[in-house]
Amino acid sequence: MPSLMRVLLFVSLLFCPIPVLSSSGPEDKESNLHIRPRTDLPPGYSSPDYYPTPNGGWVSEWADAYAKAQKVVSQMTLAEKVNITSGTGYFMGPCVGNTGSALRFGIPNLCLQDGPLGIRNTDHNTAFPAGITTGATFDKELMYARGVALGQEARGKGINVQMGPVVGPLGRKPRSGRIWEGFGADPSLQAIGAAKTIQGMQSVGVIATLKHFIGNEQEMYRMTDVFQQGYSSNIDDRTLHEIYLWPFAEGVRAGVGSVMAAYNDVNGTACTQNSKLLNDLLKDELGFQGFVVSDWYAQIGGVSSALAGLDMAMPGDGAVPLLGDSFWNYELSTAILNGTVPVERLNDMATRIVATWYKMGQDKEYPLPNFSTNTQDATGPLYPGALFSPTGVVNQFVNVQADHNVVARAVARDAITLLKNVDNTLPLKRNASLKIFGADAGPNPDGLNSCSDQGCDKGVLTMGWGSGSARLPYLITPQDAIRNVSSNAQFYISDSFPSGISAGPNDIAVVFINADSGENYITVEGNPGDRLVAGLYSWHNGDELVQAAAKKFSTVVVVVHTVGPIILENWIDLPSVKAVLFAHLPGQEAGDSLVDVLFGDYSPSGHLPYTIPYKESDYPASVSLIDQPFGQIQDTYTERIYIDYRHFLQANITPRYPFGHGLSYTTFNFSEASLSTITPLTQYPPSRPPKGPTPTYNNTIPPASEVAWPKDFNRIWRYLYPYLDNPEAATSTAPYPYPTGYTTTPQPPPRAGGSQGGNPALWDVAFNVSVKVSNTGSRPGRAVAQLYVELPASTLGVDLPPLQLRQFEKTAILPPGGSQVLTLSVTRKDLSIWDVVAQDWKAPVNGQGVKFWIGESVADLKVVCEVGGQCRRV
Ligand SMILES: *[C@@H]1O[C@H](CO)[C@@H](O)[C@H](O)[C@H]1NC(C)=O
Ligand SMILES: *[C@@H]1O[C@H](CO)[C@@H](O)[C@H](O)[C@H]1NC(C)=O
Ligand SMILES: *[C@@H]1O[C@H](CO)[C@@H](O)[C@H](O)[C@H]1NC(C)=O
Ligand SMILES: *[C@@H]1O[C@H](CO)[C@@H](O)[C@H](O)[C@H]1NC(C)=O
Ligand SMILES: *[C@@H]1O[C@H](CO)[C@@H](O)[C@H](O)[C@H]1NC(C)=O
Ligand SMILES: *[C@@H]1O[C@H](CO)[C@@H](O)[C@H](O)[C@H]1NC(C)=O
Ligand SMILES: *[C@@H]1O[C@H](CO)[C@@H](O)[C@H](O)[C@H]1NC(C)=O
Ligand SMILES: *[C@@H]1O[C@H](CO)[C@@H](O)[C@H](O)[C@H]1NC(C)=O
Ligand SMILES: *[C@@H]1O[C@H](CO)[C@@H](O)[C@H](O)[C@H]1NC(C)=O
Repeated sequence: MPSLMRVLLFVSLLFCPIPVLSSSGPEDKESNLHIRPRTDLPPGYSSPDYYPTPNGGWVSEWADAYAKAQKVVSQMTLAEKVNITSGTGYFMGPCVGNTGSALRFGIPNLCLQDGPLGIRNTDHNTAFPAGITTGATFDKELMYARGVALGQEARGKGINVQMGPVVGPLGRKPRSGRIWEGFGADPSLQAIGAAKTIQGMQSVGVIATLKHFIGNEQEMYRMTDVFQQGYSSNIDDRTLHEIYLWPFAEGVRAGVGSVMAAYNDVNGTACTQNSKLLNDLLKDELGFQGFVVSDWYAQIGGVSSALAGLDMAMPGDGAVPLLGDSFWNYELSTAILNGTVPVERLNDMATRIVATWYKMGQDKEYPLPNFSTNTQDATGPLYPGALFSPTGVVNQFVNVQADHNVVARAVARDAITLLKNVDNTLPLKRNASLKIFGADAGPNPDGLNSCSDQGCDKGVLTMGWGSGSARLPYLITPQDAIRNVSSNAQFYISDSFPSGISAGPNDIAVVFINADSGENYITVEGNPGDRLVAGLYSWHNGDELVQAAAKKFSTVVVVVHTVGPIILENWIDLPSVKAVLFAHLPGQEAGDSLVDVLFGDYSPSGHLPYTIPYKESDYPASVSLIDQPFGQIQDTYTERIYIDYRHFLQANITPRYPFGHGLSYTTFNFSEASLSTITPLTQYPPSRPPKGPTPTYNNTIPPASEVAWPKDFNRIWRYLYPYLDNPEAATSTAPYPYPTGYTTTPQPPPRAGGSQGGNPALWDVAFNVSVKVSNTGSRPGRAVAQLYVELPASTLGVDLPPLQLRQFEKTAILPPGGSQVLTLSVTRKDLSIWDVVAQDWKAPVNGQGVKFWIGESVADLKVVCEVGGQCRRV
């Protein structure tokens, strides 16, 4: 989302001449706003044409919803169909995105609102822990429960479509600004986190939006606009399938209603008009039945995006916001009347949207928006973008929090990751003499929510900044919560170490440091979203604060709130640094979740959702930020499938803390592992089921009169409508210069498809691995069993990371001596590689040569089972 600043710049630039350049999508007279020439793609990368868009409705789970949608859409006028596919313009309604309506069928202006950790820009909401925190729990039930609570709050505010969860960025680049919105730097962790969140959100009728599709792994230079050409993520087919597409496949399988197309290009074509991505991979191979929505201002062409598979344009404006300019709305009406966009395509767009609305049950007593993303005031303009707007009540301050603080606290607590704990320094005794250091332990001195979209790093870091943030309804700081339980704590809420402090022999220093990042449209302390100047170090001289404390105190506990990996080497090995906790981004319950763990009411049970290296140069060079002065940035994924721990293992680089690492106050023993074959594996899955039927329509171009302005229509200035002043003039039979590969004849169904997510046989459980986990220590605690597969690279004929996470399960709180048997199911897909020649998933026959490793991190493996062999402890 661009800032208001950017919007104003856009507007002022409007009166400057704009150079015209060609786009690699279909020719389109509206999409002429590129300012820089494309630099060439690296040899071998291209974005093949794939037309037409496969119509939705062919998956049996959606058949009822599509049957209802078909009844409605077959009666809709052109204006109504265009209405529900197009946004009404930025600041033209209560939500960050608002579609037109079709009230004859009970379809209101659909409300689209951020974000993935709570409702953005509102009140009486919960600010939940971020995605990265949720990933660190490795707890599927909490992932689901948080999703339900998120959905309930969205529904309570009248939000139809919630912008989350996030699985892209996936975590390729450790400095990337928004890696904290997703669940961690592994495709299976992202996939499970997203699927549980989607199921939770949609269980209460909210349409979830899985984003950002795809290759949006850096914030800087992501957008194509009048100032710049967004970067191109150049990704080979196997890497796309095995890493970046993987969580999208799982989200589609979970039934996600909406997918957001990203700002950037992939292989030189913008995601919003990339037919290979949207028509082929998402809608055909993955069988996506919902609708594709553009990221805000990611649409750069009208005809091109419609043909390539975009279904909803947000916020509806053209390249220059707020001037009544659009790529769709009245332009889409024109493109239908002149025959350039087939009626069939518009029918499919509308059907996908209406079917999704029915699928989630939004036809039944769904609330209308009762809040405004534009203001905190009770009353104000209904359409702030209109300048002259009717006014009214815009915020009803509906309290949607219920008891969601409970799940928010549970997620934040069970995510806390104990990296180091020498001499059982933790847990702390309640009467221990504590000296607490760091601004990160306290409140924002300027006041709660004083920074718009959390665009600052002041006080305890509860979330990153940008559209993925939410306002805090309240905040329990570490200071509040520690003061509440400790009779003996002194606070030095500052980032400079106080001079002249005396340290008694039993004093314990607890030092709070943090590292922030966020979305590109806000720059915080020189960091334009990505951690450009901060690098992978803690902010505000956090390392010096720890060092200063370590000089004075013989026992130092470090608490880190962070968006992602940071380098710890400036202090981690200092003898007095005895314990380190990563509390990630905890949301509003920051303090009490921490105190739960710090004082031993709960054992920590979080695990790192990424690797922490010794130094940044341990990562592949290709995952650093790219900031080049001329031409389009070509961000080529030359490291291929080797990101995060896959890279460290492959390159034989020992990290400081491995992926999955996390200690407890107790210890666990893994024993009695067993492996059972559930479904024998053929090399390729059995052939896919055929597609079911899709709705049929009268696809004749409708009469132009359907988009004439209604009589006495009360038109809002600069609001975007489907109507034309002179509709008859739009009809034409002139030829249109379609892209070379354009056709209206459906493609043969891809072999790897068949249902939501792909061929359903990919989800056949191939093996179950069971393991008994016993608490062998003296305190209660929860263990996580992480299952990594080792696949036979030579049998599969490819290079492979030695280990890949595919499954995890978490125990209940086990008392000392207690135990629990966990069963981890591994699917066919989990054991497959993407065969680029066959264009299908290839597995080792009957799993021959596969090893299943279960452990407490990727480097702390406890048991191994070999197919056809034994399970043993290691
Ligand atoms: C991008 O180009 C690579 C290299 O040719 C190819 O393997 C891949 O399928 C392309 N992906 C897309 C989405 O166009
Ligand atoms: C299109 O939506 C607008 C509101 O956004 C509404 O005023 C108009 O009546 C709708 N048109 C039709 C044909 O329903
Ligand atoms: C606002 O929220 C309340 C409570 O969720 C709901 O009953 C109402 O329908 C919502 N919408 C409006 C416009 O009041
Ligand atoms: C039809 O209308 C669309 C939208 O204005 C335009 O982009 C396209 O070029 C037109 N087609 C022809 C053949 O003029
Ligand atoms: C805390 O209380 C325990 C007894 O409950 C006592 O042994 C210990 O000395 C106390 N520690 C401090 C720092 O007061
Ligand atoms: C302080 O502790 C009491 C009792 O455990 C609890 O009810 C309250 O919520 C706590 N307040 C804070 C700010 O942690
Ligand atoms: C863990 O379990 C195994 C198998 O039951 C046993 O041999 C071993 O002694 C146990 N280890 C501990 C520390 O309890
Ligand atoms: C199909 O739509 C066209 C244009 O609205 C109309 O003239 C025609 O009668 C329709 N055909 C059928 C079979 O309904
Ligand atoms: C395999 O494990 C799952 C739990 O992950 C369980 O539901 C299923 O029943 C198991 N299958 C068999 C055949 O034991």
